[in-house]
Amino acid sequence: MKLGKSILIISLCSSFLFSIAACSFQKTKKSEAGEIKYLIGMSQANLGEPWRVVMNEEIKEEASHHDGTRVIFTDAGQSSQKQISDVEKLIGLGIDLLIISPNEAEPLTPIIRKVHKKIPVIILDRAIIGDDYTMFIGADNKLIGKMAGQFVQDLLGPKGGNVVEITGLPGSPPAKERSVGFRNEIAKQANIHVVKTLVADWLRDNAESKFQTYLTQNNQIDLVYAHNDPMALGAYHAANLAGKKGIIYVGIDGLPGPNGGLDLVKRHILKGTFIYPNGGKEAVRYALKILHDEKVPKKVTLKSIKITENTLDEVE
Ligand code: FRU
Repeated sequence: MKLGKSILIISLCSSFLFSIAACSFQKTKKSEAGEIKYLIGMSQANLGEPWRVVMNEEIKEEASHHDGTRVIFTDAGQSSQKQISDVEKLIGLGIDLLIISPNEAEPLTPIIRKVHKKIPVIILDRAIIGDDYTMFIGADNKLIGKMAGQFVQDLLGPKGGNVVEITGLPGSPPAKERSVGFRNEIAKQANIHVVKTLVADWLRDNAESKFQTYLTQNNQIDLVYAHNDPMALGAYHAANLAGKKGIIYVGIDGLPGPNGGLDLVKRHILKGTFIYPNGGKEAVRYALKILHDEKVPKKVTLKSIKITENTLDEVE
């Protein structure tokens, strides 16, 4: 941590270019001058979604256990352009390592490639194109899609039924992988039909309004497979408003807390969800290994598990 870094940090904070997290970092920096050994930049795709808030909390918590380690957080607000400039600003602050959960793969790939030429980069949860980074940490989304497909087959039985798939942001790889894994699996059961795909970009409100519109056109829906729990909840709200009962909802994320996936399973809103670990803790641990010149794997795959009413007590 050089002196030049602290001057830059202070000037960026005072020009209000940065988030509260960065400015509180400035205070810490002033009061504990000289104590920061490792400065990590964390570029978050958005903080509008609860799952990402939890990821940042996990990173903050883990970093607090390591002396001399500070993390500066940025929030791209679901804009890939904003995330590119966030990364540029973090580099300007003199970070020693970048952790990034990219909003979309394609627009973020060139900047990540550029950064990786200078400092180590850990990619979290959403992949980029190619492998120009130090390591990737995340769950296997194709496998989650496959497990969701198996679950839907079990739920619908030999009679099958009509399924609506609600997808995440098309430019973010988990959306594609959760769809491919799911489709390949349900193709084994001829009576299951995906009657509609609604693109809701991971957002609960989008899912609610799109499903609301779709419900006015189609009555025959047996199950909704949403790529995350908030979108499943949005669809559930829309159906409730329209007085449509009996639809089964399956989501992904399985967050604890009110309106988190676990709570939704408990309240019988979701038939099941898949815990999608965020990798925040692992990212900080591996970041420190990298900064200590230790060897790390190129890819760490986090485990995802199915949660239903019957298995809730295993995680609560
Ligand atoms: C949050 C989120 C999660 C989802 C993940 C996929 O932004 O939409 O709900 O599981 O991103 O990258």
